[in-house]
Amino acid sequence: MSVTADSQRPILKDGMGRTIVNLRISVTDRCNFRCTYCMPADNVEFMDRQKLLTFEELTRLVGVVSRMGIYRLRLTGGEPMLRKDLPDLVRMLHEVQGIEDIAMTTNAFFLKNHAKALRDAGLNRLNISLDALDKEKFAHVNRRDCVQEVLDGIATARDVGFPIKINAVAMRGFSEEEIIKLVEYGRSGGFEIRFIEFMPLDADKIWERDKVLFGHEIVDLIQKKFPLEPIQDSLEIGPASEYRFTDGLGKIGIITAVSNPFCDYCNRIRLTADGKLRTCLFSTNEHNLKELIRGGASDADIEQKIREALVIKEPGHKINLDDFERPDRAMHAIGG
Ligand code: GTP
Ligand code: 5AD
Ligand code: SF4
Repeated sequence: MSVTADSQRPILKDGMGRTIVNLRISVTDRCNFRCTYCMPADNVEFMDRQKLLTFEELTRLVGVVSRMGIYRLRLTGGEPMLRKDLPDLVRMLHEVQGIEDIAMTTNAFFLKNHAKALRDAGLNRLNISLDALDKEKFAHVNRRDCVQEVLDGIATARDVGFPIKINAVAMRGFSEEEIIKLVEYGRSGGFEIRFIEFMPLDADKIWERDKVLFGHEIVDLIQKKFPLEPIQDSLEIGPASEYRFTDGLGKIGIITAVSNPFCDYCNRIRLTADGKLRTCLFSTNEHNLKELIRGGASDADIEQKIREALVIKEPGHKINLDDFERPDRAMHAIGG
């Protein structure tokens, strides 16, 4: 087993030689929003609650991957705060040896009430979805009229000390007028705003290439008002290409998942709420870890199954190729 020079942490490689450090754990597929780029407006069928991995099962699994070399976790949903007693899970994961960073991706609606408990439990960082500041536009894209509750949640989270990134899905014909407003909001609030190219993971299958507002167009639009300079090597850490404002007041990120996929730098795997391991956001097959966990498998058996999955981790997604196949799960059941 290879170890890093400065610690005893093992290095976990996939079949392409990429180092895997990050596990995204979806804790529920339920959501209180119905964002158009993610979920249908109604009649969504959710998983039975008994199908979800329990906190004890999740903690055991995190112990296994931590010993393999994963040290960053992200809790996702649906909306993760819909999972009852989430701070208890954060506390349990925080105690797992080797875990250095626990983050969460959320729509912020419940943060006003839960931010402090999550922070106290050991949650380190938040990424918060906010596609529009305009009340009507927010209600249109998220299908819930509650931008103020989200802004209040963000303010509370900042007050209890969370570093915050804001995620805005960028769609042509919708986002253009919101971009500068979001940038100004980020600069004044101390948040990194990241614009994400719209990906074909929406449950209603409204995605078309024409609806993607491309990263370079977003950068051009922002540059006209706020000059930017690229930050080198940001893709080695996460999916965003980052730019700093030349006046020194903060930075933005652009996630060019469609126009310039960052798959060569991919450092993550995903776990669905019902215990399936996905080696790519766009995977069309999954590896059933719950079956092993509930079937009495040892930690070594689970580790072996994860290693086998990593050998065949997809080199990249195929959105731009003719043989692209959408995954069966929509975004809310994968976790983003
Ligand atoms: P950081 O650790 O803060 O960099 O988090 P993150 O950007 O990885 O997580 P977040 O949940 O905020 O995701 C932001 C956007 O990037 C979402 O739209 C995700 O779907 C997308 N994203 C994250 N990981 C991947 C990936 O492996 N492939 C693709 N195509 N998109 C991804
Ligand atoms: N394309 C791009 N980003 C998406 N997200 C959800 N659906 C899509 C999509 N179809 C984003 C959410 C959230 C993150 C987990 O993924 O806005 O911030
Ligand atoms: Fe809910 Fe997130 Fe999907 Fe919006 S993107 S419906 S907030 S899971």
